[in-house]
Amino acid sequence: MDRTETVRTSDGASAADDVVELILSDHRAMEELFREMRSVEADRTGALRRFADLLIAHSEAEESDVYPVLRRLDDVDDDEVEHGVHEHAEGNKALLALLDAGEPGGADWDAKLESLVEAVTHHLDEEERSLINDARENVAPAKRRELGRAFARARRDRLASAPGRVENVRRVVAAGTV
Ligand SMILES: [Fe+2]
Ligand SMILES: [Fe+2]
Repeated sequence: MDRTETVRTSDGASAADDVVELILSDHRAMEELFREMRSVEADRTGALRRFADLLIAHSEAEESDVYPVLRRLDDVDDDEVEHGVHEHAEGNKALLALLDAGEPGGADWDAKLESLVEAVTHHLDEEERSLINDARENVAPAKRRELGRAFARARRDRLASAPGRVENVRRVVAAGTV
């Protein structure tokens, strides 16, 4: 038996490539990076760089490989998917404002960090209560693993290009989509 198959979630999906577990794991990593960005003892610049790469790669992979599948499901409201895309754009704008706010710890930096935390935390909460629960209720375990592999591949490909670079975030925001 494949060792990764020994880790199972309550509904029988394998945690290693289950799309729900992969998305939740990124959400928790983002929250951990927020804690680092708030701390005067942490490498805040490094934490912001890692956060920026993760946010863009995660959101783009959701939009390219997960949201379109959810949109096709009868039980999923298209408006919820549209709303998710809208909130990604809001998060990207808040990220760009922080990347443009100079050195960590200044008054402007702290204010922009607070706005970013607010926008992204709101999205993570709403996504988990809407689209993630839709996936839990309407997507069979085998399909969840297939989606998880597609999400992981898209996310990895994007991370390889350091998508959180300020020039790229500026381009993504200007394009108006993630
Ligand atoms: Fe997400
Ligand atoms: Fe999202």
